[in-house]
Amino acid sequence: NKSTKINFGILTVSDSCSQGTAEDRSGTNLAALIIKGLIPNGKVVLQNCVPDEKDCIKRILEEWTDREGVDVILTTGGTGFSSRDVTPEATKEVIHRETSGLTFAMFKKSLDITPLAMLSRATTGIRYSTLIINLPGSVKGSQECLESVAISLSHAVAVLR
Ligand code: MTE
Repeated sequence: NKSTKINFGILTVSDSCSQGTAEDRSGTNLAALIIKGLIPNGKVVLQNCVPDEKDCIKRILEEWTDREGVDVILTTGGTGFSSRDVTPEATKEVIHRETSGLTFAMFKKSLDITPLAMLSRATTGIRYSTLIINLPGSVKGSQECLESVAISLSHAVAVLR
């Protein structure tokens, strides 16, 4: 009884955005890309913002997977080298299976654009039937990474359902 829509949750991981001292530009941009049709039949059903705290990130990832059953969760932010960046660690603690090919695809395209892409520690994986994809925090980086995996997402979701 699942719809033909691909349901997305977008989670912005940022201390400043969650405190209201910065605008969530990357989360807003990712939602706009989906609404504009970057992923055919894509629909944004959940959007939230949490601080760079592992437990806060894990709680939302588990809730959106186990209770809401979204098809794909995109996180943006917290993938870099700063001591507060813990999004990949939170993700690794909730996924059941890694999806190395998706991670590789993001890095392959990103490294052609900027060598700074190697400073992202983004990971991707499957929890139950939800795909979780870490994207960097910048508007530019998160868009480039989503674009690099967009072509495979409808097939990925069809197989997971
Ligand atoms: N990936 C792409 N495709 N494009 C970019 O501009 N920026 C990088 C990297 N990945 C970038 C990118 C930079 S400068 C950093 S510091 C890391 O992502 C981590 O970003 P985050 O800590 O905001 O998640």
